[in-house]
Amino acid sequence: MKAFDLLYAGLKRRWKEAARHSQRTQPPKQQLALPEPQTKPAPVRVRDLIEKDLPTVFTPRSPVREIRFLQGRDELIEDMRGALYHLGAAIVIYGERGVGKTSLARLASAKLCAEMISLQGIEPIYYSVSEGDTFMHILGSILPRLGVKDIVVKVLTSEITGARSVVNAQLVEMEDKSRTEKTTTARPLVDPEPRPQVVVDQLKGKRALIILDDYERITDESTRKFFPELIKKISDNQLQVSLIIVGIGDSAKALVEVHESVARNLTAIHVPRLTDEQIRQVAVEGFAALRLKHEPEVIAQIVRYSANFPYYTHRLCEGIVRAYIAQARSGNRSDWTIRASDVPAAIREAIKNSPPTLVSAYDEIKASERALQVAYIIADAPEEPVSRARIKEYLTAWTGEDPDIDAALKRLVDQGVVQRPETGQYCYRNPLQRAYTILRFRADTPDEQLVKIDAALARVKKAATS
Ligand SMILES: Nc1ncnc2c1ncn2[C@@H]1O[C@H](COP(=O)(O)OP(=O)(O)O)[C@@H](O)[C@H]1O
Ligand SMILES: [Mg+2]
Repeated sequence: MKAFDLLYAGLKRRWKEAARHSQRTQPPKQQLALPEPQTKPAPVRVRDLIEKDLPTVFTPRSPVREIRFLQGRDELIEDMRGALYHLGAAIVIYGERGVGKTSLARLASAKLCAEMISLQGIEPIYYSVSEGDTFMHILGSILPRLGVKDIVVKVLTSEITGARSVVNAQLVEMEDKSRTEKTTTARPLVDPEPRPQVVVDQLKGKRALIILDDYERITDESTRKFFPELIKKISDNQLQVSLIIVGIGDSAKALVEVHESVARNLTAIHVPRLTDEQIRQVAVEGFAALRLKHEPEVIAQIVRYSANFPYYTHRLCEGIVRAYIAQARSGNRSDWTIRASDVPAAIREAIKNSPPTLVSAYDEIKASERALQVAYIIADAPEEPVSRARIKEYLTAWTGEDPDIDAALKRLVDQGVVQRPETGQYCYRNPLQRAYTILRFRADTPDEQLVKIDAALARVKKAATS
């Protein structure tokens, strides 16, 4: 054994010497014809990639970016396809604020332009109406994009470079001191009287799909009359121009007052709130696209707090993913799994920078504790509207007493938060306020209290469905 050890130590020493020797006598490195192999790239950080993709997948501040993230609108897209089979038809897309009208209008138009023969080669022209816009501003922007030049409102010449630029009236109004302004020879659109026929003459021979979004913002009386008249003229003159009017409204008629004779050329498309299942899809597919796993409970909570508005789904999901990335960065998470415990922080994040009208209405509700409880119950109840008797049931389960709710209900109705579609039935006037109430209440209430409230309300819900 000893002899073996000695032999082994000797061999090892010699081998080390040989190695050292060969290192010393290494020949100088010869230049090779082939380039040096690439050095290994820095390891890609998955969390950075997720952060990069996040604004494409969850977009609370903008319409859906890609059609694969547009959930539940296939039927509506088919309705639009039917309408656009013949260019010249008009479409009115209407619905509540935040349900996804703009997303549908833009993505469906792009898709149909790519697919339909009648729309071949057309790129949709999109215009979002601003407060105070008149037909002059709107057409001043749209028509030049159709190659209608002599109808442009103004020409500006730069005093410094002498460069000329054509702009629409809206831009002219924002004073630009570095340019002198000269009205073009074209008269029509500076006319105080809108004349759709002038526009129609310019549109002859053109093929176009025009999306006019946020149409409800048009307050100017003559402009409100102008577009229905334009729709009629387009149809009378068999022009190849289709107009898609998009805006908030209970009906197409409430949004665009068209004459009976035009109504048949007009396809009304109502955009409903998403169903629970479709909201679920928004969250599930979004997380999957970001390669994130999730606990099922997370989705259940997102569905509940979204109140069928994809706007809140996007806000919540974005907040959840951001929180995960932050934790992954500080080394606390590496399982790529979204957990139910991530939701409360996301709720707090989601309600930040909410529209001031929602916030101030909530603060007003909150001034009375009972009113706040009743407001939360109406918001959270699965039924809509909720009957007075049911509200009482929920509140009894919550507080353990037999509370008086009539004063609170009256207060909420008087504040304009809640309405009574029928006697003894209550629901929110503004569905976004409903969602905000749920989220804000949950953000403001300590967790252990929420657990108790949830359990109490769940008992009543369960009794109702069984
Ligand atoms: N069908 C949909 N699937 C997924 N997300 C949607 C869908 N429709 C809208 N959203 C999201 O909801 C929010 C509001 O959408 P938007 O199209 O701007 O609504 P609206 O124009 O009706 O106010 C955006 O964050 C958008 O990304
Ligand atoms: Mg919109």
